[in-house]
Amino acid sequence: MLPNTVKIVEVGPRDGLQNEKQVVPTLIKIELIHRLADAGLRVIEATSFVSPKWVPQMADNTAVMQGIQRHPSTVYPVLTPNLQGFDAAIQAGATEVAIFAAASESFSRKNINCSIAESLKRFEPVVSAASALEIPVRGYVSCVVGCPYEGAVDPQKTSEVAKTLFDMGCYEVSLGDTIGTGNPASIARMIEACARVVPIEKLAGHYHDTYGMAIANIHASLQLGMAVFDSSIAGLGGCPYAKGASGNVATEDVVYLLNGLGIETGIDLAKLAAVGDWISRAINRPNGAKAGRALCAGTPA
Ligand code: HMG
Ligand code: MG
Repeated sequence: MLPNTVKIVEVGPRDGLQNEKQVVPTLIKIELIHRLADAGLRVIEATSFVSPKWVPQMADNTAVMQGIQRHPSTVYPVLTPNLQGFDAAIQAGATEVAIFAAASESFSRKNINCSIAESLKRFEPVVSAASALEIPVRGYVSCVVGCPYEGAVDPQKTSEVAKTLFDMGCYEVSLGDTIGTGNPASIARMIEACARVVPIEKLAGHYHDTYGMAIANIHASLQLGMAVFDSSIAGLGGCPYAKGASGNVATEDVVYLLNGLGIETGIDLAKLAAVGDWISRAINRPNGAKAGRALCAGTPA
C-alpha cells in the first residue's frame, strides 16, 4: 500500500548549494528559497550554521535567514552541528534545526571531526536547548548503506544511530545515502532494520543520485510505507566530504514520480520546473532534473 500523501523536504539551498565551488550570492539563495515556497514547498532547509572554515559556502547563514520573507505555511530548518551553531541559528531567527550524525566512523571524523559517540554526546545539549525553546529537531544519519572510506555499512549500525537520535528527541530521522550507492535492495534492508526501532512514519529517505538509483530507491521506500523524502531542486549538490558524490535526487523528478503514482504533495510541478531552470542558469550549472528539463523543453508527458 502506497501512502496517499508525501512530505517533501527541499534541501537544495543547503545540501545543494553547500557544495558549489563558486560563491553563490546571498540574494540568489534568498530568491531561490522564495521561489521554492511559491511552488508549494512547505519545508525548505535554508542553510547551515556550521564552521565557515569547513563549509565557506554557508558563511552567509545569518544573512539568508534574516533576508527571507517567510511563507506562513512553510518552515525553514537549518543544520546545527553543536551548541555554538544552535545559538547562532536561534539568534538568526531559526524555528527548526537539524543535527547530523553518521553510521560510519570514518565519515563522522571527516565531516564533523569527531567519533559517532562523541557527536551523539555533543547533540544532547543541542536537543535540550531546543526543547527548552520548543524548537523541533530533525536528525540525520549519513552513510546509511555505504561510506566513501569504509564501503558497505551494516544496516544494524544505521538503525542504532537512528534509534539514538529518535530517543534523544528528534521528531523525524532522515536516512542519508550520502554517496548514492544504494539500490532498492540495500535501501530496503536498511529501512527494515531502522523501522524495527523507529516507527516508519518518523523516518525519511535522503538519497543522493550518484549511481542513478535514487528514484528507484524512493519507489522501494514508498512500498515499505515511508512518506517523507528529502530532495534538491535541479538535483543540486553533492557532499564536501564524499568525493564524487552527486547531488540529492531532483525534486522535480520526485514530484513527477509521485504525481504519476497519484500521491499528493501540494507542489506545482510546472512552477517547480521553472525554479530548477532558473537556479541552474543563475549559477551556471547543468539542470540535473530529468523531468525538469523535459517539462521546460515542452516534451509531452
Ligand atoms: P572543529 O574544528 O572540531 O570545532 O569542527 P571546534 O569546536 O574545535 O572549533 C574550531 C573552530 O570552529 C573555532 O573557531 C570555533 O569557533 C568554530 P576558531 O577559534 O578556530 O576561530 N566553530 C564554529 N563556527 C561557526 N559555527 C559553528 C562552529 N562550531 C565551531 N557551529 C565542526 C567541528 C562540527 C564545527 C566542523 O567539523 C563543521 O562545521 N562541520 C560541518 C561539516 C558540514 O557542514 N558538512 C556538510 C553537512 S552534512 C551533510 O551534507 C550530510 C547530510 O546531507 C545527510 C547525507 O547526505 O547523508 C545532512
Ligand atoms: Mg545530503
